[in-house]
Amino acid sequence: MATDGPGHVVVLGGSGFVGRHLVPRLLQAGHRVTVLTRQLTPDKRAALSRQASVREGDVHDAGFLRSAFHDADAVVNLVGILNERGDNGAGFERVFVGVAETLIAAMHSAGVRRLLQMSALHAGVGQSHYLQSRGRAELAVRESGLDWTLFRPSVIAGPGDGLFCRFDALLRLLPALPLGRADAVFQPVWVIDVADAFVRSLAEPGSIGQYFELVGPERFSLAQIVRMTARARGRHRAVMALSPGLGRLQAAIGEHLPGKPISRDNWRSLQLDSTSEHDGLAELGITATAVSAKLHEILR
Ligand SMILES: NC(=O)c1ccc[n+]([C@@H]2O[C@H](COP(=O)([O-])OP(=O)(O)OC[C@H]3O[C@@H](n4cnc5c(N)ncnc54)[C@H](OP(=O)(O)O)[C@@H]3O)[C@@H](O)[C@H]2O)c1
Repeated sequence: MATDGPGHVVVLGGSGFVGRHLVPRLLQAGHRVTVLTRQLTPDKRAALSRQASVREGDVHDAGFLRSAFHDADAVVNLVGILNERGDNGAGFERVFVGVAETLIAAMHSAGVRRLLQMSALHAGVGQSHYLQSRGRAELAVRESGLDWTLFRPSVIAGPGDGLFCRFDALLRLLPALPLGRADAVFQPVWVIDVADAFVRSLAEPGSIGQYFELVGPERFSLAQIVRMTARARGRHRAVMALSPGLGRLQAAIGEHLPGKPISRDNWRSLQLDSTSEHDGLAELGITATAVSAKLHEILR
């Protein structure tokens, strides 16, 4: 494809939170979009733009990917999980490294060169299986010989997110919130800015072979994020900052609770502040949005 013109973009994991915001932006930019999903439920179909095509199949299956890529100009990989079943890294390895390696092989055999790979801030750093697998997936992409671009966001904020909306749901149930690593710092990035970064990158051949760290203009501790969420709803909730020992214990218990509010691997990831000095959005010509100004929209 002309990397600088509209084309056919295949999005793996496009039914998720980021994908639901990215797909309409790709369509607006004139691209034809196909979303790959393991199973097209009515919820997913309703959340996806009507103009987007959807193909059901297993993204671990090289044959399925090859056939899905046959007339593609670019591939976007948004597949991800935040938790795995056990705590040995095998689930992350399969979803991050396995899918990256399979899609790279399928792109080579289908003759597609352009790859936009979602990663995460601090991929390859620290002790968490999540970040370590992310790092190995990045390595596979960097060594793929394809025209790749990597995106490393901090936590992503927007309607239906796993940050403000998740805490909002917890605060609805709990009179007070015990919080491990209450002082962990985040630079939440607005989901539309993330989507725009992908769209801009597709139109910008100079982004090939580059990493973009995607962060918002504001820094908040976890405790501040919880308090902002409660305040936006007019709720009065106490935040109880836990000691490191109690935080670890909470994470070990949390991974056995319904919905897995926190896991031991999340706890390991939380040891690193999710912040960056590099403004990848600015490098792509995007002015980062302050999520504090979007809180009511996020929680609506
Ligand atoms: N949200 C954030 O704050 C954040 C921050 C940093 C990085 N990221 C990364 O950004 C990407 C998109 O995030 P998101 O928030 O949109 O995630 P999401 O809502 O959970 O969507 C991820 C998609 O991955 C697919 N998927 C999940 N488990 C899978 C599995 N075991 N095998 C194959 N496919 C699977 C799902 O597609 P189907 O069910 O349709 O198959 C799902 O729609 C992910 O890689 C995520 O790790 C997100």
